Order: sequence, then structure tokens, then C-alpha cells
Amino acid sequence: MLDKVEFVAGSDDEKSRHDRVAFRASVIAGLSADQKTLECKYLYDDLGSDLFDQICDLPEYYPTRTELGILETATPEIARMVGSRAELVELGSGASRKTRLLLSAFDTPSLYVPVDISADYMMDVAEQLRGEYPTLNVEPVVADFIAPFELPKKSGKGNRLLFFPGSTIGNLHRAEAAEFLRSLATSSDADYFVIGVDLKKDTAILEAAYDDAAGVTAAFNLNLLRRINRELGANFDLDRFKHKAVYNEVEGRVEMHLVSRTAQNVSVGDCEFEFGKGETIHSENSYKYGLNEFADMAKAAGWRSEQVWTDPDTLFAVFLLAAPRP
Ligand code: TRP
Repeated sequence: MLDKVEFVAGSDDEKSRHDRVAFRASVIAGLSADQKTLECKYLYDDLGSDLFDQICDLPEYYPTRTELGILETATPEIARMVGSRAELVELGSGASRKTRLLLSAFDTPSLYVPVDISADYMMDVAEQLRGEYPTLNVEPVVADFIAPFELPKKSGKGNRLLFFPGSTIGNLHRAEAAEFLRSLATSSDADYFVIGVDLKKDTAILEAAYDDAAGVTAAFNLNLLRRINRELGANFDLDRFKHKAVYNEVEGRVEMHLVSRTAQNVSVGDCEFEFGKGETIHSENSYKYGLNEFADMAKAAGWRSEQVWTDPDTLFAVFLLAAPRP
């Protein structure tokens, strides 16, 4: 997957036109399906990235603080394992909060490669990190990391650690997640892999985490419609949609939907879409795993399990995996 890189030559204008065309095609296809859907990667425009940061601090949203707590315990061992002059490659870096924990514990890390779809946001964070770690080389890669993308060549100075926190793996369907782990094993050139995984638990805890009392998650989900209005000339009335999060126990996933409060028509450019009252747009899934289930999936993908840490309530897990031996 990662090795089939194609360079799209051309100016920023061409790139943004290309992105816009892809965004439109994705939205039209999604809204034309029987169960209307939207691709979750489009949640992260500038405002979406800010709202997501706020989600991470919500009292109901346990994953971020739980994972940070686990990483505080795990970091010394991770640092020992990867050794000196390590390279850190982070998928979906966002605000890079957890990164600082690792970077600070590593013995003279040589390179940090954040990979994220939100270019402006990531460039700001990269600049901050350059200030905080003056000897660290920071080389951001703007990419949707699920699709093929290119990473800088390994320097050969130290091990490469791949870091994929936040249970972002849970935003892929199980089969896609398995395939993604496999492609990372064969083409990321990583020696080690630290991945955060949210675990199965009570429905009430899960549903609160994705539908908080302050309404930040609702605003985050609804912002996708605002973005479609702005970028694709659509006329979604945000007051006529509401956010809903349900735990689908059979699938082991929290589903995020945007529910149409009334029967209504919405146009996206010159395409019209009809909504029945109560009809939903499915905008995101967050799959939850059992500890063994995930360990088996990683193993089947070629990774060797070195260590797993959880919190005292077994809400969340951090796995340290080692690359297949050549
Ligand atoms: N990776 C995060 C998760 O599944 C993403 C996320 C958190 C999210 N809250 C959300 C995505 C609300 C969409 C809507 O926990």
C-alpha cells in the first residue's frame, strides 16, 4: 500500500482543485446511497480540528486522558526498546500531545514525521515542536494516511517507531483495519509500532463519550455539513439536523449519525437529495476491540506482540509491536 506512491505534480491551486473534486464526488456518492454516509476524514477542517481537540478534554471522553496515563507508564520501556537516535513517525498527528511524552523520554531522537490530512494545522504544530526540540528534525507529511503515501527514507541512525494513538484504527472497519496493519508491516519500514486501541465496555460509557453534555461532539459532527455548504455550495440547514451516537453491540462499534429532524430536500451544487424525517447520514464508526482480539489481528498482520499496557479499569490499551523479522 505505502510503496505505490504517485507524485501529483502541479501547483497548490491544482492540488486544491483536485481535492475539491474528490470531496464533491465523495459527498455525492455518499448521499446517493440507501444508507446515506459521509467520509469521516472530511470532519477535520480547521474548525473540525479545533473541535476535536476540545473533545479530547471532555469529561465524558475518557480515551485521550486514559491513553496519556498509560503512555506515562509505558514510555520508559518504549524508549529503552527503540534506543537512541530513533525516528518517530506518527499517523494522524493532530495536536501531537502524546508525541511530546515519547520525544521527551527518547535518547536524542533524530527525526519526527507527523502525518496528517490537516496541513495548516500540522504545520503550526510542527513549528512549535521545532521550538521545543531544537535538535530534532521535523518533517511533516500531508497525507490521508489510509491511502498510499510516501515517508522520508530511513536515516539508518536509529530504529523507526511508528506511532498510531487515539484509537484511530477504530475508525476503520475491522477488515480494513487488518489490511492496514498488514500494509504497515510490509511497507512502513518501521522497527516498532506503538498503537492505542479503545476496548469494549458498557454501552452507557461509550455513548456518553460520543455524545457529551456540552454538545462539543455534536458541533464537531454538524461542522461536516457546514463544510459541505461552504466548499461545495450546499444548503444544509444545520438547525434541521441533530447528532446521534449509538453503540451497536453486534458490530462492536459506536456509530455517529446526523439525523434529519424533518422531511426536507438539500442541494449540493446542482444535485438534490431528499431526506425523510428521522433519516440519518452515517458519518463515523468507532470500533471497539477485546484485548485478545486485537493482539490476534496484529499477529495475523505480521507484527510480533512485545508488550501491552492497560489502565486499572481496562478502558483502553496500548500495544508495543515489533516488525516482522526480515
Ligand atoms: N478516533 C476517535 C475515536 O473513535 C475519533 C472520534 C472521537 C470521533 N470522537 C468522535 C469521530 C466523534 C467522530 C465523531 O474515538
